[in-house]
Amino acid sequence: MSLKLIKKILPRPIVTFIQSILAKLGELKEGIAFQCSNSMFLSSTYYFLFSRAFDREHLSVLHGKKRYASDIKHGKAGLTLLRRNVHRLEKGLIMKPRRPIFAKDYITETVEFLHKVVTENPETEVDELNWFCDVLTTYFLAVQSDPVIDKAKSLFDDTVKLRNLKITDKIPYVRNFSNNIPSFEQFENLSLRRRSVRWFEDKAVPRDLIDQAILVSSQSPSACNRQPFRFHIFDDPSLVQEVSKIPGGTAGFNHNFPVFIAVIGQLRAYFDERDRHVIYIDASLASMSFLFALETLGLSSCAINWPDVPEREKKMSKALALDEDERVIMCIAVGYPDKNEKVPFSHKKSLSQLRKYN
Ligand SMILES: Cc1cc2nc3c(=O)[nH]c(=O)nc-3n(C[C@H](O)[C@H](O)[C@H](O)COP(=O)(O)O)c2cc1C
Repeated sequence: MSLKLIKKILPRPIVTFIQSILAKLGELKEGIAFQCSNSMFLSSTYYFLFSRAFDREHLSVLHGKKRYASDIKHGKAGLTLLRRNVHRLEKGLIMKPRRPIFAKDYITETVEFLHKVVTENPETEVDELNWFCDVLTTYFLAVQSDPVIDKAKSLFDDTVKLRNLKITDKIPYVRNFSNNIPSFEQFENLSLRRRSVRWFEDKAVPRDLIDQAILVSSQSPSACNRQPFRFHIFDDPSLVQEVSKIPGGTAGFNHNFPVFIAVIGQLRAYFDERDRHVIYIDASLASMSFLFALETLGLSSCAINWPDVPEREKKMSKALALDEDERVIMCIAVGYPDKNEKVPFSHKKSLSQLRKYN
C-alpha cells in the first residue's frame, strides 16, 4: 500500500501522530549516527545495525575480488594482471638509474599469465599482446642474468613462438615535441565553451563521432594503466527514453536526449579493497576527456549523477545487464546542442578557494 493511500484512508490526527513518531525516530537515528562518528568501531556498528547504505558497495567489491581471482585462474580476457605488471615493467625500464635486475618478484607470474592468455584465449587482441611482448622483450634485453629471470625468459620465448608474435614498437619512448598541440588559449576556450547542455537538436548523433571521442578518452591516465571502465551507449530513441529516466537528475529534459551513456566501472580489476575507489577516479578522468572531445566534434553533453539508491541500482543493473562487480559511475547525455537554448551560468570557485601551496 502506498504512503499516499495510507494518508488518505487514516483520519488526519492519526496521520499527524504517526508522522511525529517517524520524525522522532529519524532524529534518534541521526543522533546515534553522530555519536557513532566518534570511533571506527562505532561507525562500523552503525552501518551494520542501522543502515544498508554501503551494502551494495561491499557486495560489488567482493564480487570484483572473486572475478579478479577467476580471471587469473582462467587466463580470461580481463588481462588486468598483465596490464598492471607490464606497466610496472615499463616504469622499471625508464627508471634513472635503471637497476640491473628488477621485477624479479613478479616476472614469473607475468610470463606465466601471458602464456595462459596466449594458450587459452586465442581471441585476445593482437595489439594488446604486442605491447606485452614488446615490453617483455625489452625487459629481458635490459636485465642481467639471474636464475629466476632466465627461467621466465625461456617460457617467454616459447610463448612468443606459439602465436608467432612479431616485435613492434610498443615500448618506452621519448615523446615527439615537434607535434603541434592546442595553445593554452585554445584549451581555455574549449573549457569555457563546454557547459552542461540540457537541450539538444532533434538530430541523430553519428556513432563514429562517439567512437572518436571514446578513443581520445582512452588516452586518459588510469591507475597502472588498467582502464577499469566501459561506456554503455544508448542511441535507440525508445531505449534512451527508458534508461535515461532511471537516474533522478534528468526529470523534465531527458525526453530530448539523442544519446544516453552509462559509464561503468569494473571492480574485477582489483585484488584488494584498497583500490576500490580507483574505478571512480579512472572513469571520471576518461569521462572529462570524452566531454572535451565531444565538444571539439560539435557535440555537447551533460554529466548526470548516479546516486546510490537501491531501487535505481536494481533498475539500472537490469537495463544494462551489469555484471555483479560492475558499478555505474555516472551517466552522460549527448547530442547536438540546441544553440537557441540557455545554459546555467554556473559560476566557478576562485583561485584562492581552489588552491593552497605548500
Ligand atoms: C558527477 C556529476 C553529476 C551531475 N548530475 C547532474 C544531474 O543529475 N542533472 C543535471 O542536470 N546536471 C548534472 N550535472 C551537471 C552539473 O550540474 C554541472 O556540471 C554544474 O552545474 C556545472 O555546470 P557546467 O558543467 O556547465 O560547468 C552533473 C555533473 C557532474 C560532474
